[in-house]
Amino acid sequence: MSSDLRDSLDRPLRDLRISVTDRCNFRCTYCMPAELFGERYAFLPRDEILSFEEIERLVALMAPMGVRKVRITGGEPLLRHGLHELVRSLAAIRGVEDIALTTNGTLLERMAGQLKREGLSRLTISLDSLDPEVFSRMNGGKLSVQRVLDGISAAEEAGFEAMKINCVVQRGVNDHTLAALARHFKGTGHIVRFIEFMDVGTKNNWDLEQVLPATEIAALIDAEMPVESAEPNYVGEVAQRLRYRDGEGEIGIISSVSNPFCGECSRARLTTDGKLVTCLFAQGGSDLRALLRSGASDDEVRERIRGIWAGRSDRYSEERSELLGTDRPKRVEMYQIGG
Ligand code: GTP
Ligand code: 5AD
Ligand code: SF4
Ligand code: SF4
Repeated sequence: MSSDLRDSLDRPLRDLRISVTDRCNFRCTYCMPAELFGERYAFLPRDEILSFEEIERLVALMAPMGVRKVRITGGEPLLRHGLHELVRSLAAIRGVEDIALTTNGTLLERMAGQLKREGLSRLTISLDSLDPEVFSRMNGGKLSVQRVLDGISAAEEAGFEAMKINCVVQRGVNDHTLAALARHFKGTGHIVRFIEFMDVGTKNNWDLEQVLPATEIAALIDAEMPVESAEPNYVGEVAQRLRYRDGEGEIGIISSVSNPFCGECSRARLTTDGKLVTCLFAQGGSDLRALLRSGASDDEVRERIRGIWAGRSDRYSEERSELLGTDRPKRVEMYQIGG
């Protein structure tokens, strides 16, 4: 099977990000604000969520189209029962070279060892601040910073190295704690990545004023721990790399707002309920679940996916500035596609 599938802007399909649950034990203000996601919020019922078998089938069909990297996300993916079984079966699919998982870290103490044994390649952990008060304000006050740090330690013990630590930056909220976060992980081999606050979804009251641009983030770190830029690890890498001049590792900055990176975007996303989404900022996706459940053959599913990718022209982050000030349309939410 050829792997020369290209979208309408000549971008290949390399990276598939799969949301395995829309639930989360955090209530981050920039993703699932507590006032909108309360006790009675109706998350997806079980029969609307893709089963592991359905996910495996889709990945097996997409690997020959070019997918090399799979990232498991949520919501909080470790809340999905039996997740290690999915890791095991995805690791066995030919062509899939890398399986990563993005988590808030709170359930890692219990699960890191098993995930490693089943073949998970890499872990990314979200941690917005080491300051308990700032952390609690951003993440909904449910669980502690210490719980996340304990999860990171457990993952280290399980053998995960060079973990990525994702920090969403909001001006006036956690910008005064960025240097301390960088310092904590400097010299550990882990890579802190600062993410510009993005206008994903429709529920997080995004405001350009709250975006601290990458250049300011870099200057802030550089003032305390001098850094210099480093080459990307691979074409289309999302984060700009900055290495500490003293050789004690690196940080990354993800500048989707101030310096978009759509030109090389080879990422597709699969929502919890089985929609294939071609951009983080898409208004919706194509319903693969219905197709799978209608009894479609492998050829039919393949053709559908090829058609969706071939027709793809998304480059939202590059168009954002032209759209600012216009009404924000309906959009897929972050907890449905996992970033
Ligand atoms: P690696 O495979 O380790 O290179 O991971 P990655 O950097 O591609 O993935 P990760 O999920 O860690 O990306 C970090 C964050 O960058 C995400 O959580 C998003 O917030 C943002 N991001 C990732 N991909 C995209 C994208 O395609 N568009 C935009 N606008 N933001 C993205
Ligand atoms: N802007 C930037 N990053 C976000 N994330 C979630 N919502 C946003 C947003 N609005 C991050 C999370 C996590 C990753 C999946 O995406 O913190 O690290
Ligand atoms: Fe949960 Fe991650 Fe969303 Fe926070 S950003 S509410 S941890 S899914
Ligand atoms: Fe890719 Fe859309 Fe992000 Fe641009 S905005 S990098 S097209 S996901």
